[in-house]
Amino acid sequence: KRLDLAIRGGTVVTAADMVRADVGISEGRIVVVADAVEGAADEIDASGLWVMPGGIDSHVHIAQPSGPDIVMADDFTSATASAAAGGNTFVMPFALQERGTSLREAVEGYRALAEGACHVDTAFHLIVSDPSPAVLGQELPALVKDGYTSFKVFMTYDDLVLNDRQLLDVFAVAREERALVMVHCEGYDTIKFMAERLERAGKVAPYYHAVSRPEIVEREATHRAISHAELVDVPMMVVHVSGREAMEQIRWAQQRGLKVYAETCPQYVTLTADDLQGLNMEGAKYVCSPPPRDAESQAAIWEGITQGVFQVFSSDHCPFRYDSPAGKLNPKARTSFRWVPNGIPGVETRLPILFSEGVSKGRITPQKFVELSATNHAKMYGLYPRKGSIGVGFDADIALWDPSRRETIRQEILHHGADYTPWEGFDVVGWPVMTIVRGRIVMRDGAIVGERGFGEIVRRDHSAYASPAAAA
Ligand code: URP
Ligand code: ZN
Ligand code: ZN
Ligand code: ZN
Repeated sequence: KRLDLAIRGGTVVTAADMVRADVGISEGRIVVVADAVEGAADEIDASGLWVMPGGIDSHVHIAQPSGPDIVMADDFTSATASAAAGGNTFVMPFALQERGTSLREAVEGYRALAEGACHVDTAFHLIVSDPSPAVLGQELPALVKDGYTSFKVFMTYDDLVLNDRQLLDVFAVAREERALVMVHCEGYDTIKFMAERLERAGKVAPYYHAVSRPEIVEREATHRAISHAELVDVPMMVVHVSGREAMEQIRWAQQRGLKVYAETCPQYVTLTADDLQGLNMEGAKYVCSPPPRDAESQAAIWEGITQGVFQVFSSDHCPFRYDSPAGKLNPKARTSFRWVPNGIPGVETRLPILFSEGVSKGRITPQKFVELSATNHAKMYGLYPRKGSIGVGFDADIALWDPSRRETIRQEILHHGADYTPWEGFDVVGWPVMTIVRGRIVMRDGAIVGERGFGEIVRRDHSAYASPAAAA
């Protein structure tokens, strides 16, 4: 049977291998990986390029309400265009339950926004902010059965925080339904205590956001969440780990045989709390939680990456405009760091930063890059073996990389809806030059060429990593 597309002359990189091979695609799937593939309707010359699984970013926020009069800078179209431009073929945003509302309704609302709007494939995690008896007893179990096999819970933020009892209740449902629970580990009360003390001392600039939530706050919450998960015997994913303190809690748990997984992000290997300093309100551009730390923390995160403490490297894309009353510079933000919306844009720059700082600088192998950027996301969140690798039978979700191309990250070359990038002027070696989703070219040389709406909402399976230890 004639192939739809052949990618010829490239170097195929997977989490396991790096080999010179051609890739043949038919009906959106990879049907042959071989020395030489002939007879395709279309051909791409990939000589000099690396043929890698398209990036899967399992932690992005799109069109989430973020407080009164605050709006996120991306809708599903701009976020997924930005993702595709950055070499991604799949993103996982969150369906956020607002307190007092049904989780099912939240899911339907987000689906309606994403339907027909996306350039790459997507699947939603849930955010549980109101674990009522109906949510715990009916909605969550039913949603897991419908393919929403992971959910995030928060240990901080006024509108999202769960107390310890509520965390335990949600963990118990996750265990019962074999869902993977993601935990935002920062302590609510400690942050509140610190923030109020800083405010009383007149320390209200964006920089004090970082001072108000030091590593000890993250470490304590990480340990507490791990303890709860151990008690309930449920696997868990600690998201956006920022430095050594939290990482060592996770390593300790892993060495005891607990199924504790961890995610880190570009900001924790490239930015520091000093970036939150800056003239006037410029520091607000870097306000995210947990905040970036210091150079030693960056080294600690690399140590955790190379030693296998971290399974996934995500962006935590959470974009707000800087120069906007609905974004970082909202009227209240000048009165205190507490009102600066938390989050930074990063879905488009995640892979170039990991490639450049990791592969090009010799810290990680190309195979490790693929594992951290695509394969493990698919495995963790129930998308494998449909997504996440290059091999016969996988969806043809592919990024072509020029491993030696030099680029400088600048706002003007990005496709997100934010009006800045935290990495303005950051030099990288290695850049995605083409993104292919299910056999269709969606990005070529920085231009979005796919049609809006080609991206599908994918139903996920259970994660193999979510099975309780006692059942393994
Ligand atoms: O500051 C951040 N990271 N905002 C996004 C929401 C979250 O906690 O992941
Ligand atoms: Zn099931
Ligand atoms: Zn979080
Ligand atoms: Zn996040």
